[in-house]
Amino acid sequence: MLADEVVDCHVLVIGSGGAGVRAAIEASQYGETVLISKTIIGKGGCTTMAEGGYNAVLREQDSCVLHFEDTLKGGAFLNDPELVHILVKEAPMRMDDLITWGAVFDFTKNDEIAQRPFGGQRFPRTCYAGDRTGHEMMITLVERLDSSDVISLQEFTILDLLKEGELVIGALALDEKGNLILLKADSTILATGGTTKVYDISTNSSSGTGDGFAIGYRAGAELIDMEMIQFHPTGAVFPYDARGRLVTEAVRGEGGILLNSLGERFMKQYDPKQLELSTRDVVSRAIATEIQAGRGTKNGGVYLDVTHLSAEQIETRLPVMLEQFLKFGVDIRNQPMEVAPTAHHIMGGLRITSECRTTIPGLFACGEVAGGVHGANRLGGNALADTQVFGKRAGEFAGKSEKRIKKVDYDQISRKLEDLETLMKGIVNPAEIRKKLQLAMWKGAGIFRNASDLTLTLETISNLSLAQLKADSARNLAECCTIQNMCMTSSLICRSALIRTESRGAHVRVDIPQTIDARQSPFHHTFMSSSRKGIEEIRSPA
Ligand code: FUM
Repeated sequence: MLADEVVDCHVLVIGSGGAGVRAAIEASQYGETVLISKTIIGKGGCTTMAEGGYNAVLREQDSCVLHFEDTLKGGAFLNDPELVHILVKEAPMRMDDLITWGAVFDFTKNDEIAQRPFGGQRFPRTCYAGDRTGHEMMITLVERLDSSDVISLQEFTILDLLKEGELVIGALALDEKGNLILLKADSTILATGGTTKVYDISTNSSSGTGDGFAIGYRAGAELIDMEMIQFHPTGAVFPYDARGRLVTEAVRGEGGILLNSLGERFMKQYDPKQLELSTRDVVSRAIATEIQAGRGTKNGGVYLDVTHLSAEQIETRLPVMLEQFLKFGVDIRNQPMEVAPTAHHIMGGLRITSECRTTIPGLFACGEVAGGVHGANRLGGNALADTQVFGKRAGEFAGKSEKRIKKVDYDQISRKLEDLETLMKGIVNPAEIRKKLQLAMWKGAGIFRNASDLTLTLETISNLSLAQLKADSARNLAECCTIQNMCMTSSLICRSALIRTESRGAHVRVDIPQTIDARQSPFHHTFMSSSRKGIEEIRSPA
């Protein structure tokens, strides 16, 4: 026996953000379910950090058709319509689940769930719990999880998926002491979240290191649209340690305005109709353009101003923002905030069906690690809804899969053990590589891209001495594995960005003219797996 411990279950869920926990709750109705997480459950992942809200069609004046159209338009028509259809149809039901389980959302005086406007939407359909919506959801989900039969394993690092031929039969993990754990499962769900920690400036929690993309790729799964990285328009710019921290879109939803250092409301030039509530790709580019043109603040941002709102509105609707900026010495009731774009979300990921099946049998994916729902640019408020809608679906369809006898390939485990031994003999500090990677990605694969910078970034990644990574101790192996995953996921982003020879949504190739009408694009998804890569061409109707 090569592993220190063996676990055998029906469904293995990897990742404990909103999608993973929702998937585990659902799967546990069908058989023994194990939820494995690299963090303390409920404390890691990005859901708990999501501030602004959850999009759901709840009013008669709104409709699923409007939400569907807004999502496709916001996504520059790269979204999979079937997945979007599911998202808009099921988001209200999953919201009901949360409320039944005890989530406390804000309500109006008429006792209806309150909704606020968010960017790119023709109806104010973003439900919220102040500006701590994700946190409220996670508290609720974790309480529900605790009352289920799910077995939770915390602070484990997944090394790779286990394969029996083409079939995924679980995963290989390390515990926090460096012990090897073999997890066998009839079905495995990847719900490992996003990857924008590969950028120097990011809203993501420390767990957003792109592990699931790398793990899925190594197992042979196909990934789509990995070039589609969303830069949230408003991240904090100072103090240095708070750089990139999310300044919620709810600030603009509540009426906040953007001003350059000349006091100009510059969004009038970039989107005169939607102004600050244009889609995130447009607002981020506008802010970056103002800064590049020398109209930024001395700290390298632009102003986001709510001083015209009443103190009561700020205190009740944006309490976290108020507190966060007070800590930085800024009272947003009478002083503007300073903000700049920050890497926030990846729209690409593992290709999934409507049942959250990936391209390899036995493997499901949901949440940010899955691609296709949000196209080339996600609407604010659609991610929290996505975690619940597709988390539930992944849990359900994985749960309904057959029970089977799993034959472990011990050669695969031996090879992994050899890799780990090599790390113990390395000489390069993983922290050094992490920083170099983040700076290279920020510089070469950011908001504005071109072929030569992307190629240079790929070269930098391949020169990062990964083969010489050093783990000081068995406990330190996890960090080395994370760096390897970050580098692999970064290279998938850059390679896909080179393959997409057009500008669409969040992907702007300054060396290739902007697509004016995304519907006229000759391309659809970029795709990448260990066996093929390319871009889908759209054939004109005969
Ligand atoms: O701005 C925000 O509150 C983020 C929301 C989202 O990414 O959906």
